[in-house]
Amino acid sequence: MSAVDNEIIHKQLNWRYACKKFDPTKLIREQDWNILTESLRLSASSYGLQPWKFIVVQNPEIRKQLQDQSYGQTPVTEASHFVVLTYKETLDEAHIDRHVAEAAKSRGVEAATLAGYRNLMVGDLIKGPRFETIKWWAQRQVYIAMGSILTTAAMMEIDTLPMEGLNAAGYDKILGLEGSGWKTLAAVACGYRAVDDKYQHAKKVRFSAADVIEYK
Ligand SMILES: Cc1cc2nc3c(=O)[nH]c(=O)nc-3n(C[C@H](O)[C@H](O)[C@H](O)COP(=O)(O)O)c2cc1C
Repeated sequence: MSAVDNEIIHKQLNWRYACKKFDPTKLIREQDWNILTESLRLSASSYGLQPWKFIVVQNPEIRKQLQDQSYGQTPVTEASHFVVLTYKETLDEAHIDRHVAEAAKSRGVEAATLAGYRNLMVGDLIKGPRFETIKWWAQRQVYIAMGSILTTAAMMEIDTLPMEGLNAAGYDKILGLEGSGWKTLAAVACGYRAVDDKYQHAKKVRFSAADVIEYK
């Protein structure tokens, strides 16, 4: 049995749209925001390695600076909450060890028993050919988290705007990320739609299920 009715899920998936104009007077309650940050933190990632950091920017002055690096998009300053999604630029053994230590702690086993798992990850992602494109691997993981917050917010009737329309280097500078190993990938504005955001009434543009879902 589904925890949530199928019709409700489908309705909310259609309810979600890329909100272009937020009502700056409507704020997300703290308990709701905490669920949205959990949707980021609990996202799936390859090997569970979580090569991400999510920076919630609530300082209006910093948000104004970020807006200037986002083609002036108003959700940056008008949405209730604004989160910048960053990825780990290069993967190192220290990060894998940190994950292995966390796994050992969470599951109540000795880290040494996870040596095979650790070596598999190091061999694949750091010592293997995939290391050459590891930043793209990290970016893909962060996009999974982006999908997760968009869908979770829709279930909560909280509006979002996923944003790639930004100057990532400019964000890195403003957020003090230069030289930190973390890089801006994208952002998500979260809040409540303005009544006059005309995009909420636009029909969804999607290829048909027959076109994009294939059964063999
Ligand atoms: C990764 C990603 C980046 C996006 N960047 C922007 C953006 O910078 N500005 C914007 O107005 N919309 C942006 N969008 C919204 C898309 O244009 C929108 O999701 C798409 O047209 C489908 O419409 P819908 O989300 O309303 O169903 C982005 C969407 C995604 C998934």
